Amino acid sequence: MSFIHKLGLHKALGALSPAVRPLLNAASERRLANAVNIADLRTCAKARMHPMCFGYLDSGSDDEVTLRRNHDAYAEFELHYHVLSGLSPETLDLRSRVFGRDVALPFFACPTAGNRMFHDEGEAAAAAAAAHHGTLYGLSSLATTSIGGIAEQLPAGHPKVFQLYVWKDRELLRDVLAQAREGGFDALALTVDFTWYGNRERDIRNGFTIPPKYTPKQVLGALSAPAWTWDLISNEPYKYALLREDVPAESLASFVNEQINPAFDWADAEWLCQEWDGPVAIKGVVRPDDARRALDAGFSTLWVSNHGGRQLEGSPATVSVLPAIRAAVGPDVEIILDGGVQRGTDILKGLALGADAVGVGKPYLYGLGAGGTAGVVRALDILKIELERAMGLLGVRTVADLKARGDDLVRHRGSSARDAQGARYASSGIV
Ligand SMILES: Cc1cc2nc3c(=O)[nH]c(=O)nc-3n(C[C@H](O)[C@H](O)[C@H](O)COP(=O)(O)O)c2cc1C
Repeated sequence: MSFIHKLGLHKALGALSPAVRPLLNAASERRLANAVNIADLRTCAKARMHPMCFGYLDSGSDDEVTLRRNHDAYAEFELHYHVLSGLSPETLDLRSRVFGRDVALPFFACPTAGNRMFHDEGEAAAAAAAAHHGTLYGLSSLATTSIGGIAEQLPAGHPKVFQLYVWKDRELLRDVLAQAREGGFDALALTVDFTWYGNRERDIRNGFTIPPKYTPKQVLGALSAPAWTWDLISNEPYKYALLREDVPAESLASFVNEQINPAFDWADAEWLCQEWDGPVAIKGVVRPDDARRALDAGFSTLWVSNHGGRQLEGSPATVSVLPAIRAAVGPDVEIILDGGVQRGTDILKGLALGADAVGVGKPYLYGLGAGGTAGVVRALDILKIELERAMGLLGVRTVADLKARGDDLVRHRGSSARDAQGARYASSGIV
């Protein structure tokens, strides 16, 4: 905790916030208003945030190959559109179902840790944006906002999923589950790609701690981000709101290393599925055999994810493994996909290739870092408008239609090239 918080000076500074915040946020609001796409939101977030917090948000593990491939893999799929489908914007229908609940959009904000370090509005901003767009909200067990704080933003009964880590301490697990249940979370997601903490070298290089240490580098970083720094010093310090023992946000990596249980196995997973009365997703599968095994263990939803390229470097791009997983489990099992989405066309491809819903992590966190609730709403807006445009141009009116005709409409570049070559030979009479 900084000396400002220890001395209670943040309370005095907080009283000045109504006058100071608008001045400090004027530039970031202007930048946000001009953002056209998710890449622009990333630039806006980088400009407003402390560099080491931006680094934590933005980075992947090791050489960040998986981080890049997650995104690049969408470009491997092409859209074989139908012309003259007669679709005007008002006829499109983006509604879908996830965890047995109706949602207005087939994509949503994934659970992510420590949102108050990106912007003081934190998880509440993402929850408010989910309410605004009528879509699923995912809360991390490493949230810096309490379940009560989330409930203030989401109407009772709003579809939401609670993310759980494989903690060593079963009491801690049960305690977190009880809080989630009390808070009206009916769906659970167990993250299984995080039994060890990924090697995030940008964080090590940046000396990532919350709050920043008083080293010349961190002080310079804080001075370069006055709006972010003002929020930090004029508000209560963050902590992990769902962990009853007092874990300061600065000790994330050491807490996780102490509490995460690398020995957690399929038998533990079965136990967990029995503990929870409702849908349970396994978050982090990338293999068809694990997907089938998860269904045998009692999971109801498969969440194809590699933690946004932040864990095992060299993991396959999630959209590349999705078709094989869908083929292995058949059409009726619910599948969520996340990783590398930056565009509405990426969401469209994910749905066509077998996902029932698509999660986004960094895209909405860029919005959050760029401008709190307004930024997250903007991120989801951008993706929604892009998805609508893509559906209109592709010639599909509904998400259900996109899923049903996906195989024909979205094809891997290799197979398109083979088809084209086959057709050339056919027309030349060689075949
Ligand atoms: C800053 C950050 C924090 C994250 N924290 C969590 C978390 O607490 N629990 C979890 O299951 N996944 C977490 N994730 C992973 C996301 O839920 C999601 O799988 C991933 O971000 C999707 O990839 P994308 O960022 O490319 O969209 C985090 C991701 C980021 C970027």
